[in-house]
Amino acid sequence: GAGAETTATKSQFLNIAHRGASGYAPENTIAAFDKAVTMKADYFEVDVQRSKDGHLVILHDNTVDRTTDGTGYIGDLTLEEIKQLDAGSWFGEEFAGEPIPTLNEVLDRYRSKNIGILIELKSPELYPGIEAEVALLLAQKKLDKRTDKIIVQSFNHDVMKNYHRLQPTIPVGVLVSYTPEGVSDEQLRQFSTYADYVNPNQRLVNHDLVQRVHANGMKITPYTIRAESEARQMMAAGVDGVITDFPELGRLR
Ligand code: G3P
Ligand code: CA
Repeated sequence: GAGAETTATKSQFLNIAHRGASGYAPENTIAAFDKAVTMKADYFEVDVQRSKDGHLVILHDNTVDRTTDGTGYIGDLTLEEIKQLDAGSWFGEEFAGEPIPTLNEVLDRYRSKNIGILIELKSPELYPGIEAEVALLLAQKKLDKRTDKIIVQSFNHDVMKNYHRLQPTIPVGVLVSYTPEGVSDEQLRQFSTYADYVNPNQRLVNHDLVQRVHANGMKITPYTIRAESEARQMMAAGVDGVITDFPELGRLR
């Protein structure tokens, strides 16, 4: 019928595995990205930061404390130090020794695997110039065409505005955290000058927001869906996809 199905057809609906299939394997590791591939997600999401010696590395928190056997800020460690860390055991012994990947490794491993990559620039204010480095890496690897299924997003909207200037062929997403005020039409108009996706906390999402995002020519793929009831609510509101820890929730329709 009409309603929820009017916006995105089943084939266009984006099922995005958050930090990989992080409900099933340790987030932001090859194990979680491989799981996203076997579960046939459309994209997986990665959080990108920078090591002390300038390598682009995949980790969510600013420190390695929660998800590895080390301590300290990732930006204070060299790649050699980072590569010695165990980023799997915290999640389950069967993942012991799973390393922190680099963005370079991830782009190479999945470029022929029929899955897209949603690259989040995490805390880019800690890593001045990181947007230019990511753009350069994508260009060097010839992954900078609109058809390459790469999206770059951040909570830092100034950085994303700059990213769009640097590499206008790559779709840009703006992440929006929850605030009681929600998202204004003026904000959406601003976003639409450089972004293709508005990716809000799911608590901000209702039919009205979805319509206003669409009226501004953008798509909406909220985060972080972890339950079937949440997935169904998002679909009923008419979103274009979901960012989820459990990729089976991205294809309930
Ligand atoms: O992709 C959206 C989501 O990853 C943003 O929140 O904290 O999980 O990086 P966070
Ligand atoms: Ca993220």
